[in-house]
Amino acid sequence: MAYDAVIITGASSGIGAALAQALARPGATLGLVGRDARRLGAVAEAAAARGAKVRQGLFDVRDREALRAFTESVAAEAPLDLFIANAGILDGRTPDGSMETSDAARNLLETNLLASVDCFHAALPHLRAGSGGQFAFVASLAGLAPLPDAPAYSASKAGLISYGLAMREALRAENVRVSVVCPGYVTSQMTRNHLGAKPGEISADAAAQRILSGLSRNKALIGFPFHLYWASRLSIVAPEWVRRLGMRGLSFRVGRYDGQKPR
Ligand SMILES: NC(=O)c1ccc[n+]([C@@H]2O[C@H](COP(=O)([O-])OP(=O)(O)OC[C@H]3O[C@@H](n4cnc5c(N)ncnc54)[C@H](OP(=O)(O)O)[C@@H]3O)[C@@H](O)[C@H]2O)c1
Repeated sequence: MAYDAVIITGASSGIGAALAQALARPGATLGLVGRDARRLGAVAEAAAARGAKVRQGLFDVRDREALRAFTESVAAEAPLDLFIANAGILDGRTPDGSMETSDAARNLLETNLLASVDCFHAALPHLRAGSGGQFAFVASLAGLAPLPDAPAYSASKAGLISYGLAMREALRAENVRVSVVCPGYVTSQMTRNHLGAKPGEISADAAAQRILSGLSRNKALIGFPFHLYWASRLSIVAPEWVRRLGMRGLSFRVGRYDGQKPR
């Protein structure tokens, strides 16, 4: 499926950067959002080299005004047909074994959950215009099978799954398509700071292909890899002892990176 105008948050790295490259083509307008000017600039340059017209949005996704203004400026250039709310951070149990603090949990929920909801509302008027557009929330398998070492992260992603699926149904008659993406382990800066086992890890490019394939089929939930996705879906109805068994070996710590510091 060829999109003409797309906004991607968290485009300066990992999955977002891979999506930007996969969507870059002559005639496409890409609005790329991140906070690190050097990394965002490099992604923008590579996308422009593939023929895309690129607009960079250098701001924190929690800045609602900047988000709204940027979305409007991109949509003014070309009718917006896809918005991918992908920016996110990981926090949780630290290497010394301490649990996340109240401040860390709040910061994470603001970034992963509330800012993604703000993205949705910034995009909606533009997606409603014309023949209808598409919105993707990037959640995680952790939203289906909560991780004891990352409670706020898991809650943020569970919130996105609920919010996205509810909105999908609410907007069905209006021809605005909403999907929720649930990746497993994907190689990125985030996973480099996930200190523990990462079964079924795939590259960011492979993840971008799976996401775009799911979006082209307007899937409600785009989850991968297959076996972990279905194990996560079923875990919610499994007895607690089965869930515990399934989680064995998946304990982890979150390294130095907290998504806020320059790397
Ligand atoms: N990697 C995995 O295994 C995995 C699995 C499941 C779900 N996910 C989800 O996939 C998404 C992308 O993660 P990733 O693995 O690609 O991680 P990543 O390489 O660390 O990239 C995260 C991106 O989000 C941006 N970001 C974070 N906080 C932001 C903020 N407050 N304002 C603006 N941008 C912000 C970062 O921008 P700057 O660096 O420029 O600030 C960066 O571009 C996240 O939502 C993550 O939860 C990842």
